[in-house]
Amino acid sequence: MRTPFVAGNWKMNKTSTEAKALILELKDGLEKITNVEIVVCPPFISVPAVSNLLETSSIGVGTQNVHWEDNGAYTGEISAPMVKEFANYVIIGHSERRTYFGETDETVNLRLKAALKAGLIPIVCVGETLEENEAGKTFDIVSNQIRNGFTGITESEMKSVVVAYEPVWAIGTGKACDAETANEVILKTIREPIQAMFGADVSSELRILYGGSVKGSNAKEYFSQPDIDGALVGGASLKPDFIDIAKAAGAC
Ligand code: PGA
Repeated sequence: MRTPFVAGNWKMNKTSTEAKALILELKDGLEKITNVEIVVCPPFISVPAVSNLLETSSIGVGTQNVHWEDNGAYTGEISAPMVKEFANYVIIGHSERRTYFGETDETVNLRLKAALKAGLIPIVCVGETLEENEAGKTFDIVSNQIRNGFTGITESEMKSVVVAYEPVWAIGTGKACDAETANEVILKTIREPIQAMFGADVSSELRILYGGSVKGSNAKEYFSQPDIDGALVGGASLKPDFIDIAKAAGAC
């Protein structure tokens, strides 16, 4: 049995003061949901404040990125040991990082290794662009992202990993991918390649999320699919709707 997993990616939203107010607004509702692993990922600068408010809570805290070196001359970057003092999770390879900040499968792989070394739980994002989708390349693109992103990772490291399938065209657009298609892509381009790389046990235990315009009103469709174990939520994680999404994950 895979424990359902719901993560909120706050992206570049909320000042630290606003982040504290938001988590206080969501906290009680989220803590009532005891059978779902729930994580919020505020901007770096708000992570200590949010993590402080969640110190005794079941809700986990993550960051939205991490550098692969532990320290050094990398102005503006944050390393995995720095994250680990405040958070236990990290989003890696989000499509906005790939699109706007030049992330590649190779840098995803480096960041993943650094996160695992520091004992963080990585949420690794994959997904095709609209252009790739329309050209019928979804399966090739996503399975390659998986193969390249997970090169050199051990079977035991894979046990803590979470993967998120986020079709780029569905992120923040309100055009969610239909649940059956998302399940099929997840099975063929993530679960099966992971099985080929790491074996059936790792593949059947791996938590795989769908992300892209998930809301309280459509969440159940995804969570009822056999290969979708939760969601990575952007816009709706900044609202009480996030509680409904987490509830839906616990009910499926
Ligand atoms: P969205 O974003 O829920 O706003 O579509 C999802 C994500 O970027 O993780």
